[in-house]
Amino acid sequence: MRYIKIFDTTLRDGEQSPGASMNADEKLQVARQLVRLGIDLIEAGFPIASPGDFEAVKRIANEVQGASIVGLARAKEQDIRNAYEAIKDAPLKRIHTFHSTSDIHLKYQYRIDKEEALKRSYEMVQLSRSLVEDVEFSPMDATRTDIHYLLEVIEAVIEAGASTVNIPDTVGYATHFEFGSLIKTIKDRIGDKAVISVHCHNDLGLAVANSLAAIINGAGQVECTINGIGERAGNCSMEEVVMSLKTRKDFFRADTKINTKEIMRTSRLVTRITGMTVQPNKAIVGANAFAHESGIHQDGLLKEKMTYEIIRPEDIGLQKTELVLGKHSGRHAFKARLQELGYSLSAEDIEIAFKKFKHLADQKKYIFDEDLEALVSTEIAKIPEFYKLVDMSVASGMHSKPKAYVKLKVNNEIVEKTDFGDGPVDAVYKAIASITQTKSNLLKFEVKGITGGTDALGEVTVTLEEDGKTSRGLGADTDIIVASAKAYINALNKLYIKKNK
Ligand code: KIV
Ligand code: ZN
Repeated sequence: MRYIKIFDTTLRDGEQSPGASMNADEKLQVARQLVRLGIDLIEAGFPIASPGDFEAVKRIANEVQGASIVGLARAKEQDIRNAYEAIKDAPLKRIHTFHSTSDIHLKYQYRIDKEEALKRSYEMVQLSRSLVEDVEFSPMDATRTDIHYLLEVIEAVIEAGASTVNIPDTVGYATHFEFGSLIKTIKDRIGDKAVISVHCHNDLGLAVANSLAAIINGAGQVECTINGIGERAGNCSMEEVVMSLKTRKDFFRADTKINTKEIMRTSRLVTRITGMTVQPNKAIVGANAFAHESGIHQDGLLKEKMTYEIIRPEDIGLQKTELVLGKHSGRHAFKARLQELGYSLSAEDIEIAFKKFKHLADQKKYIFDEDLEALVSTEIAKIPEFYKLVDMSVASGMHSKPKAYVKLKVNNEIVEKTDFGDGPVDAVYKAIASITQTKSNLLKFEVKGITGGTDALGEVTVTLEEDGKTSRGLGADTDIIVASAKAYINALNKLYIKKNK
């Protein structure tokens, strides 16, 4: 059985999805979960891109152990030294440097000839190797690059010290027939001198198929993202490629070290943090991926699961969640369960989360793992609260205009306001907007029930924009209007921090 390395780029290419940017605390939370999932390499960011990205990569390198931490750098000295500064304290680290190689990119974007691109790639891999042991090189737009030149670049960077050569289908142009044969040509040429990695974009919906074709033809590493998020149509989806290998071991004869039982939790966390929801019919992690509607299928399933189910839901962590805690559970059980779920909170954060849990337990009879995750994720990624919700109430109905009363603490001063709106949420938002005097626009408002039942925790995601800056807020509460208010205030606080940085 061959072992395929999983290189996760959710925090780098995934973050390049429009509107999916994450702050350092959020990235740290995702990185910790990626380790629990068993990812081999975490591309934590592109440190030169912004001071925020640099700080996030550095924190991940310093605080997250159990996977190699990768920093991305263009084939430029300043980028490479900067990436090194960000990752240098990680026990396992890699510099991933890249340069375009296709005629289209060299002619129109870089305006340099092939010789110059080759020289830069060679020298920058050498520089990276002088800083770290483990270097990966990507010839960007490889699938639209002349094959003879591509092979020349690959051989040169291996000679310069790259131990992984990544073949990106940057614009998602390749078909799986071509991509498989491209990887075979490279494998035949370089043998075991370096690991061949692949990085496929999904513009034609072929990213997973292309990555699998590459594995069959000798690739030893796949770059992918959780839920397939990423630039434009996204990247190869981690859960799809991993579950394909696991389910069809008989065909691929390859496996990964991913703990597939952590897939669902990771998917949910990334959705919650990026605000990018998964389509219901998405393979593996979509809400309908294990829902059988037709009578014939249901009949077969009741007789024998194998009739219509190729993956056991529990293999991706989708078992019917057990009742974990209730109203009478104590601090100790609460803390122990959080630890089992992989959260390590400070004593102070546990105290705050425990109070929230008790409050929730008063409103909701059964508390599931998903409820706890929603509860603590707002706690872990906590941000300074310039605006704090103190109280609110709403009156609405069929024959009266919805009216909301909101009481906020604004920089330690209490401010109250009553306002009307087209609906209860609209009324609350108008009151909050008037108190905070925000000029932001609401770009997105999304509501979802965390578990079933009318007493389920409602989770609201809000995206705001002001002067080109966007911010995403999250709020959870059994009262959906309160959750909406919390999400709005959370987004306003983030915007406030961004503006005053
Ligand atoms: O798509 C791409 O080519 C990339 C490179 C930086 C590997 O993301
Ligand atoms: Zn990419």
